[in-house]
Amino acid sequence: MGKNLAKVKHTFYTCDGGSCRKARAEQTSRDTRAYIRNSGNWENTHTIKTRCNGRCEDAPTWIVQPGNYWYKNVNSKTGVNIIKSHVKNNQPLVDSLLFEEGSTKVCSENERSNSFIKPFEHKELPSGNKGWITKGLSSDQYLYALFIKWCDSQVEGIFTNRIGEKHPMSSLKTIDYTDEFTIELNFEGNTETLLIGAVGANDKTEKQRLKIRGTFYYTEENTENKGIIFKNKIGEKVASMEFKCDRFWKYCEEIQLGGIRITELA
Ligand code: FES
Repeated sequence: MGKNLAKVKHTFYTCDGGSCRKARAEQTSRDTRAYIRNSGNWENTHTIKTRCNGRCEDAPTWIVQPGNYWYKNVNSKTGVNIIKSHVKNNQPLVDSLLFEEGSTKVCSENERSNSFIKPFEHKELPSGNKGWITKGLSSDQYLYALFIKWCDSQVEGIFTNRIGEKHPMSSLKTIDYTDEFTIELNFEGNTETLLIGAVGANDKTEKQRLKIRGTFYYTEENTENKGIIFKNKIGEKVASMEFKCDRFWKYCEEIQLGGIRITELA
């Protein structure tokens, strides 16, 4: 018989996003689940791995329900103490709290500025023309959203792969991101594969070379040309997109670049 869900009193949401995994979230998750099993709390608790919770600076993060308690820097030891505190005393582990319901303040030692994207720089672009360029984010939660938006928008332009082969951007028909690491862009008659999944810094395989680590957004001066360049860890171009569509550029500014605009800088 499966778990009797009516007995579950506390749910621990353990972040499994890239930053949290880098901060040993998987080990923490294994150790704390072992504690739950051995302490006889399997029936009255539940654990759920989540994707990134947006607080990577405090990795690894947990959320505990009921109560909407957020925890920071959770290692195996604090994880066990968090579980004990909620299960035995129905109280949060105050010293490790990042946020709790009703609070107006996030309690972090690592708070980052809201402007996580640097301002556009005015410089010579790879095309040789002058223009403005900045670096966006390259985690899969940004890139997958970007490719979905591109596919839905039917943007006119050119996609170029890493060996220089080109496809009309509007011929992108479907996207498949079911693999752990790679996303398939299915153009009419062709499929291109890009690596956007989380690859550990210590991974020594070819993945490291293919993984998109830098996503650069640019717009040329005195032309309507805009584009996105995807690069790997050592600065090699993995792919690029060139387009003129203002609507798609606006999306890039708003969503991918957190609202940063060239007009504010010019
Ligand atoms: S990866 Fe865990 S909060 Fe971002």
